Formats: sequence, C-alpha cells, structure tokens
Amino acid sequence: MGRKDITLIDLTNKVDCLELLVNHNGTQKVLKFNPHWLRFNCQSDKSREPSTGQRTVPIKNVPTNLKIKSAARDGDFVKIVWDELSNQSDSLLSIKFLLNNSPSLNAIDFDKRYETVDDLCFFDFNEFVSKEIRNEDKIFDWMKYLAEYGLCVVKNVPNRENMVRNLVELVAPLEKTIYGEIFDVKVDVNPVNLAYSAAPLEFHNDLVYYESPPGIQFLHCLKFDESVVGGETLFVDGFQVAEKFRRDHPRLFDVLTKIPASFQKIHNHRGRKIFIQHSKPHIVLNHRQKIIGVNWGPANEGPLRNLTEDEVKAYYEAYLEFYKAVNDESNITAIRLNPGEVVCFNNRRFFHSRNGFKQPKGSRHFQGCYLTMDEFKSEVLAREYTRNNRDKDLVINQSVDISSLHLLNTNVGNNDYN
Ligand SMILES: [Fe+2]
Repeated sequence: MGRKDITLIDLTNKVDCLELLVNHNGTQKVLKFNPHWLRFNCQSDKSREPSTGQRTVPIKNVPTNLKIKSAARDGDFVKIVWDELSNQSDSLLSIKFLLNNSPSLNAIDFDKRYETVDDLCFFDFNEFVSKEIRNEDKIFDWMKYLAEYGLCVVKNVPNRENMVRNLVELVAPLEKTIYGEIFDVKVDVNPVNLAYSAAPLEFHNDLVYYESPPGIQFLHCLKFDESVVGGETLFVDGFQVAEKFRRDHPRLFDVLTKIPASFQKIHNHRGRKIFIQHSKPHIVLNHRQKIIGVNWGPANEGPLRNLTEDEVKAYYEAYLEFYKAVNDESNITAIRLNPGEVVCFNNRRFFHSRNGFKQPKGSRHFQGCYLTMDEFKSEVLAREYTRNNRDKDLVINQSVDISSLHLLNTNVGNNDYN
C-alpha cells in the first residue's frame, strides 16, 4: 500500500495536458494532468480560502475548452499560465501536491486495501491509559490495526458497567443509535432484539437497515460464567467471503451487486416507534469493480421492492448461495470472551453472530457501543498526519495534504469510492 518514493524529473506543457516525468520507486513514469483538474486544484489564495482551506474557484469563469499557455517550475511549485480565454491568469500547485495526488498514479497503485486476520490480536487497556495518562502511541497502534485488519480484542478493561465508554472515548464520542449509546446484551424475558435472548444469531452487520450503519462496534464482556454453555461470538470477514464468491460464482456475484436487498427495522409496539426501511445491494462495488461495501442481515430483511419477477428469481438464487458462503465454517473465527475483554470490529466489513447458549446457573452479560466510520476514520487520519508532521508547523488547512497518508487508502467498507 502507498507510494514509497517519487521525485519529479521534468515537466512538459502539452496545452491540453500537463505531463510530469517522475521517478517512482526507481522506475520512470509520465503522470498526466488534465487542465480542469489543475485549475480546480489550484492552491493559491485566489482559489482557496486560506483559513478554512475551502475551494473558492469561481466555476462560472472556467471555460469548457481550457488550454495551458505555459507551465514552469517555480521553486517547490508548478506555475500554470492559462490562455487568454481562461478568465484567470495563472494557477499554482506544489510539486509535492501534484505527485501525491496524481489521479493516474492512484489508479495504478493501492490494490491491497486491507489486511486479513490470521491470528487474533490482543491489545492491553493498561498500556493505553496508566494513572490517567494516555499513551497516544499505543492508542494509535490499536486504531491503525483496527482500520487495517478490522478485528481485535482489548483486554484488562475494568470489569464494570459503562467502562467500555472509557475505552471508546479514547478515540471519539460514541454514536447514538435507536438503541442509545451503550446497550446491554443479556437475556431479556421480552427482548427488543434477538441479540437480547439466548438464541443463536445469523451472521449480520449491526443496524444494516441504516443508510450508514455504525462503523466500529465494541462488545465488552462483563460476565461470562464458566457454567454457561455456548455463547461464543463468531466473525466472518465479509470482504473475503465476497471476493471468494466473485471467483466461485461470478454470475451470482454480479446479481448481488445489482439487485437491491431490502432491510428494515419495525418497532410498532414500543415506546418510540421505529419504521426504518432501506434497500441496497448485498455487495457494493466502486467504478473499478472493487468491493467497497458489504450488507448482510437476514433477521432484518423485509420484502424485496421495485423488482421484476425475473429479478426476484435471480436474487434468491444468488442469496441462497451467498448464505452458504457466509456460513462456510472455514471462514469463521470464534471467540469466547472473558470478563474484562472488549472485542472491537469493523461492522461495515465483518459479519458477526453468536452461538446459542444455555445458562442453567450462571449468566452472560456484554455491553456494546459504536463509533461512526466517519469519526473513526477522521481520528485515525488526524493522528497519522500529526505523527508524520510532529516537527513541522502546519496549522492552516491549506497546507494539509492528506493524500499521502497510508490509512487514507485503507478500505474500511463504508462505500467510499476512493
Ligand atoms: Fe449484532
């Protein structure tokens, strides 16, 4: 992942294009820049508001037929002079910005966008915070791992109710959902959700019926008596399952990327009525046919909508086969959590479930909560940026170029086309 080393050798104005000859990891390449791309990414004050970094290019002044009159190096920048019909004399872009943000280079690189979990990794809460002092390096290591691998356990979280908040708020504020901020997972005589019973659960993404389901989920084990039989938490990497499904069943894979499933949560007889319905495909692809989202939740599926009879038939053929792939035992990671352990996982990428359990004497009690993927990703990137620029005085937004951040190119499954 990432571009290791890239330097500019030469530049050429082709009028309809700016060409940069670069050395990229020891190989010479030509990067081509479209004139409109250059104009809209101009970094001078006439195109950006310096204090906010927001773009202020007057779009109405930009002609369709934009031509480069001349282009030349100017210190660490490239100065583009536009022709007479361009309604702006020039644009200025830093060489570093051009090299980091080349669209053509991005299209070539960044194929490996996430890491796969082979052995479960454990982190230690006592290393994150000790005597109320935070160890930001250790916290970042955990966040980075979670971004890239998507599944890990933090041990030694104090074994008391609501302590999961102390862990999660090291990153960002908790997401408030229809289940509140912190929810209890224990046997309830009148459960609002199957999770609050002893029944086995199908693999699923939590709140899959949201337009934007929670990003990272945390489950804190408070009590799991040895006498409880079953109750292991199970995980399947949805990206890996979907990729394998693409190879094994290309026609059915195609169906699951095009025909939308229907997800819903209907609570009509509870204090607050909930009527959520959202349709989307089980597998979401970007413009390069890369998987950027997986959506799975059999218990929260409703009637299919807006489909022809043939589409419904095709959907169920693919659906039943994908169900088998998701539940293939060779893909499953089973974790029996111990009290004081918090399993942390990417809810947009991993499907989770639970074995049914019997608790004739003891009991099993977890507390869970979420972070939105937007906030989690922002925090990870901000910390990576800060670490990379510790010795530099970069305070205004205009100076911030996030493109070279390693974690920007991590696929976390939140439908990001990047
Ligand atoms: Fe769940």
